[in-house]
Amino acid sequence: MVDLIEKKRDGGKLSKKEIETVVLGFTRGEIPDYQMSAFLMAVYYRGMDEEEISDMTAVMAGSGDMVDLSEIPGVKVDKHSTGGVGDKTTLIAAPIAAACGVTIAKMSGRGLGFTGGTVDKLESIPGFRTEIPREEFMKIAGETGICVIGQSGNLAPADKKIYALRDVTATVDSIPLIAGSIMSKKIAAGSDCILLDVKTGSGAFMKKLEDAVKLAEIMVRIGEKVGRHTAALITNMDVPLGHAIGNSLEVIEAIHTLQGKGPEDLTSICLELAANMIFLAGKGEIGQCRKMARQALQNGSAYQKLKDMISAQGGDIGVIDYPETFEKARVCHEVPAPAGGYITHMDAAQCGIASMLLGAGRATKESLIDHSAGIELIKKTGDVVKLGEPIARLYTSDPCLLPDAQKAYLQAVEISDHPPMAQKLIIGRVTTKGVEYV
Ligand code: URA
Repeated sequence: MVDLIEKKRDGGKLSKKEIETVVLGFTRGEIPDYQMSAFLMAVYYRGMDEEEISDMTAVMAGSGDMVDLSEIPGVKVDKHSTGGVGDKTTLIAAPIAAACGVTIAKMSGRGLGFTGGTVDKLESIPGFRTEIPREEFMKIAGETGICVIGQSGNLAPADKKIYALRDVTATVDSIPLIAGSIMSKKIAAGSDCILLDVKTGSGAFMKKLEDAVKLAEIMVRIGEKVGRHTAALITNMDVPLGHAIGNSLEVIEAIHTLQGKGPEDLTSICLELAANMIFLAGKGEIGQCRKMARQALQNGSAYQKLKDMISAQGGDIGVIDYPETFEKARVCHEVPAPAGGYITHMDAAQCGIASMLLGAGRATKESLIDHSAGIELIKKTGDVVKLGEPIARLYTSDPCLLPDAQKAYLQAVEISDHPPMAQKLIIGRVTTKGVEYV
């Protein structure tokens, strides 16, 4: 291991055998954390070439179960976001795609730090089960066309162990390590096609557009190399998506969006994600797929798919039809604008931290979640505000958490005399043919 750390530290290229030694040795507990930490930091600074990243991905994917979805009829399409704040797109885009005949048999993750996770959001629905035995998962996906569960314990265990170490050694935001982490899980999860939503901006791991494009291109090539039809959208995460951050608040916003009453940014990004999932499944040209996605939203079939999934997974449909009956947080506090003017910037990661401080997220993997906690953004970047006017509502079950959360939230918001430059929400699309900027 010392030789391999040294080789990477000095910028050398590792063979597949050497990568296997490191990744599997660490997963089996034969390589201690201190040596793996040094190795990860060497990769962080020296990078990996595409062959090394592909080899690492394959080794990590093969470190546990490789899910076989072939008994479920239809083309299975998975979707993955590199992580964001207020990102409830799976809850909307997946039912839209499923309503257009795409099969979704998906494993999703939990939130950590400032980012949220789909499984936590779904678990805010009373009765909803995210741990489902394999046979039942296959049956629900086959019969309703959509089933979303938590990641099984033995899916890419190498990634689980490596990610936990990256999280505490400042080695998360590395293109080779993110690509290997995401693609190993997606490949092991067994879908035929993979749509990636690569976020860029203040609430994303990739703060710079050129890094997001590089990450997307590498992941698309890795997916295609192992026979999974893969594409990526590059989307803006400089501002939280929609108006809700926090688990049940985000589910309610997703329901409104599927009922055609959602915020414009969230609706348009979900339509584009769904259209690309439909496209990857081979249902038509991208223009036709966009039309199909819009129709499924407008005619209510996508909303019905969400309800079918929730009902099949044991969730209470009553709260879906009447979202005002979701359990409410005990405390709601309005944040007054500290100045008048235009909101010129909202640091999305900082908004995520404020939401975590209210109890909606996990500071560590062991933290418990308050499903009703979170933030309702009343004003967002570009809006005009008056001094003292409410710009957000903070929700929590514990009033003692409010002062720190409000302080964190106010640090996220910049107000000035001049309007900000408009930003694109969907920046580009990466396929095997290259990058298309929108
Ligand atoms: N999401 C992942 O699954 N892995 C990473 O490394 C970063 C984001």
